[in-house]
Amino acid sequence: MKPVKIGFLGFGTVGQGAAIVLARNALEISRRAGREISVKSAVVRDINRTREAGLEGVILTTDPLDVVNDPDIDVVVEVVGGDEPAKTLLLQAIANGKHVVTANKALIARFGNELFEAAREHNVSVAFEAAVAGGIPVIKSIREGLAGNKIQWLAGIINGTSNYILTEMRDKGRDFADVLQEAQDLGYAEADPTFDVEGIDAAHKLTILASIAFGVPLKFDAVYIEGISHITREDTAYAEELGYRIKHLGLAVDTGDGLELRVHPTLIPERRLIANVDGVMNAVLVQADAVGPTLYYGAGAGAEPTGSSIVADIMDAARVASAAVDNRVPHLAFQHDALNDVRVLSSSEFSTSYYLRILVDDKPGVMADISRILGDEDISIEAIIQKEPTADSARVPIILLTRKMVEGAMESAIAKIEALGSVEGTVTRIRVESLG
Ligand code: NDP
Ligand code: HSE
Repeated sequence: MKPVKIGFLGFGTVGQGAAIVLARNALEISRRAGREISVKSAVVRDINRTREAGLEGVILTTDPLDVVNDPDIDVVVEVVGGDEPAKTLLLQAIANGKHVVTANKALIARFGNELFEAAREHNVSVAFEAAVAGGIPVIKSIREGLAGNKIQWLAGIINGTSNYILTEMRDKGRDFADVLQEAQDLGYAEADPTFDVEGIDAAHKLTILASIAFGVPLKFDAVYIEGISHITREDTAYAEELGYRIKHLGLAVDTGDGLELRVHPTLIPERRLIANVDGVMNAVLVQADAVGPTLYYGAGAGAEPTGSSIVADIMDAARVASAAVDNRVPHLAFQHDALNDVRVLSSSEFSTSYYLRILVDDKPGVMADISRILGDEDISIEAIIQKEPTADSARVPIILLTRKMVEGAMESAIAKIEALGSVEGTVTRIRVESLG
């Protein structure tokens, strides 16, 4: 059979990672795919930059049309990132009848509905395993492996950069900015690293996971997003004292009354496997009715792990090339005309427990005031730590863990606590999930 010809749009960390895997494992790959896979060309900005991947036989160009309009190319791999020119180029490749593979979660989360529609029209596929959790085949697992289940919720550590920062801060006491710079140097971070640390990248990935788990259209704008930039070493230490780890988590929950789609730092009991997923590693825990909980773990970013997902998608594209679009696994797991537009809950409707850190005057009655406010909102306290005052401060932190409640009650309680004369500044609040 004739080889599958690939054209890369972008040949940076991920593009080269995929090319290295394709070259090193060429024999294994063709034994599996039944055909050879060969890289014909790659589009870059700077043609003179030194590349790690061997470029023998690869045409390097700065004109993307050399790839998307080349009739010889079967599969276009988009690893440029960003909205444009990526979106226009993919639509052009699709219109030219090419299958496309992308690692661009921002693009899929925000414009996937449009790309899939175009792909169906032209009888090609859009594959995006690399867009979520780097090297972990979690899309395939949920979309195909769990196809017989009703999925109840999923929770994932789905941004490698944030997990790397939180781990290094906790284990080595390192500074946020230093670790972020290191994650950038290692090729883990997004072109704009605020996407990583402010939770936007994780929200892109959660949008995709929620769609394939629940059969809903992609709804990035409905995701509640909080990043890790306000997490301090102090909170990490108090969390440990209480038997928890702080992780940046994406959660998608089918409550029965609507979906909770949320991304935020979260205290998780340290005995949970997912609480021990450290560094750039990612993990996604899926709770489904037939199989129960399943956990998918592996490298969440980096050249070859992400390249591994890209290569698997290229092989799938090569295999399905001859199948009619209705005979392929649907892009979002459910048939495109069977997607349900389920309501997404607002943050005040979320149900969760809380960690609160409150800086108070060290005087009698303060704790009683706080307890009364929480009691008035029907919020039960599960644990309290009250620290001794230090020699240089008259204020002490009180750390509280609450039971589960509707978040609107907590918002109201926090406003009242912050208004107390004995409380300094704002209350630090981090959600707590048992993931049991
Ligand atoms: P890089 O910055 O390493 O690579 C981007 C590539 O695109 C470079 O080769 C660059 O050219 C080229 N490029 C950028 N803009 C243009 C343009 N306008 N025209 C032509 N070429 C262009 O990014 P990554 O490989 O890290 O990321 C690529 C995608 O993969 C992103 O969507 C990212 O979110 C996603 N991703 C990244 C992961 C990672 O671990 N890094 C993991 C999972 C997904 P040049 O080399 O000349 O600069
Ligand atoms: N910047 C992303 C991360 C890359 O750190 O997880 C993988 O999607």
